[in-house]
Amino acid sequence: MEENLGMLNYLFDMYKLPKKLKEVFHAKHPKFKFHFLEHHLCHAASAFFPSPFEEAAILTIDGAGEWATTLLAYGKGNNIQKLQTVNTPYSLGAFYQAVSIHLGFKLIEGPGKMMGLASYGNPEGKPYQDMKKLFRLKDNGGFDFDMRYFSYHYTRKSGVSKKFTDLFGPSKTKGADWTDHELDVAAAAQHIVEDVIMHMVKHLKKVTGSNNLCMAGGVALNSVTNGIIAKSGLFKDIFIQPAAGDSGTTIGAALLLNHQILNRERKLMETAFLGPSYDNAACIKAIEAAGLPYKVAGDAAYDFTAEQLMNNKIIAWFQGRMEFGPRALGNRSILANPMNPDMKDILNRRVKFREGFRPFAAIVTEENCGTYFDHDYPNPYMLLVYNVREEYKQKLPSLTHVDGTVRIQTVNEKENPPMRKLLKTFEQLSGYPVLINTSFNIKGEPIVCTPEDAVHSFINADMDYLILNDIIVAKQGDGILG
Ligand SMILES: [Fe+2]
Repeated sequence: MEENLGMLNYLFDMYKLPKKLKEVFHAKHPKFKFHFLEHHLCHAASAFFPSPFEEAAILTIDGAGEWATTLLAYGKGNNIQKLQTVNTPYSLGAFYQAVSIHLGFKLIEGPGKMMGLASYGNPEGKPYQDMKKLFRLKDNGGFDFDMRYFSYHYTRKSGVSKKFTDLFGPSKTKGADWTDHELDVAAAAQHIVEDVIMHMVKHLKKVTGSNNLCMAGGVALNSVTNGIIAKSGLFKDIFIQPAAGDSGTTIGAALLLNHQILNRERKLMETAFLGPSYDNAACIKAIEAAGLPYKVAGDAAYDFTAEQLMNNKIIAWFQGRMEFGPRALGNRSILANPMNPDMKDILNRRVKFREGFRPFAAIVTEENCGTYFDHDYPNPYMLLVYNVREEYKQKLPSLTHVDGTVRIQTVNEKENPPMRKLLKTFEQLSGYPVLINTSFNIKGEPIVCTPEDAVHSFINADMDYLILNDIIVAKQGDGILG
């Protein structure tokens, strides 16, 4: 009941929102109008309207919007047509989160971490066989499952019920390592998400006939599933907007109004680099305020960075406009050498302090993606997981997850010239236009935005060099800059 009261409170909030907004904007008699827009339509708009497609099947999945947890839709021109919704309590996002909490993860951050853990379990084991029986894939493209095994819909604890723990074992003991059985439960939940999503995209293909698919919603950040869809060949093209989670509904709301309601012309989203950028003067001001040695290196910054990466140094890389969305896409990134088998542990020990089981992502030139990985579909927003080709698993060991997979970001000349140039320079030294790419932040802090943020993180973490535009910054006493 508490959850339902929560929903009612939410509706009361919506009712009170215009008054609150008038206060925020100091506007007693505003000239603007308020529009209430459905959460999942905003997700759908955030994926379809900026996509390169004139028409596309659309799938949005999350924990919950108002009532809907999933939307199957069809977009054409300036219009999104709803085809099917799945409503609370049947929520793929809430299910996945409930299992992640059962396995000892925290609310919100659990699902992303459990996706990495799932690779250690058996996706076909007994937990999967048992879990599969709880789910029903419906002919209309939707799904439901046996709510007696869950409790998130009636308690504030977003979890599982006694019936679930009777069948799948007790919740993980705090501080203990995951047992093999618990790893199989994580793999089972991941496998279920893949089954349900594949069921929905197959249905979408059948009813829309489209060759294009757009996806959004928090569950669309499940890059393992997205990789499976890409490789299935069901759709010729897939667009997943970089801010696929709830932050993306802000653009979705604006685009829904702009196109579907005001009928204005659509515009392709060509880049995720929509944030602020800083010139060298701003960067130098931040560096000098911190008293760090630096050198404006011009093109030599690329050679320096590639050489240091070869030397297994950890490089903080700050270029141009900041990326929009949860992933660092090469403008606010920490980079490292993928060929060193110890690099994952080094990065974790020195900088990231993440759980050892979580993999790091790869950044690769678009034209070489299919050389090293088992699929070449471009993936500029790091939202697909591919397999490392057998012959490169030993050669790129710190990228290859335990099950042979890796989350990929592809880079082309148009999207990110500095990163492409760095990858090509690294290739000249190493033979591989591939690097480890992880977000430029330190534990517990958001991704850096300004040069001041970058200098702060650089000073407070054990990184070797910071590259701000073409300025090389070293730690005090490093001596390399002369
Ligand atoms: Fe959402």
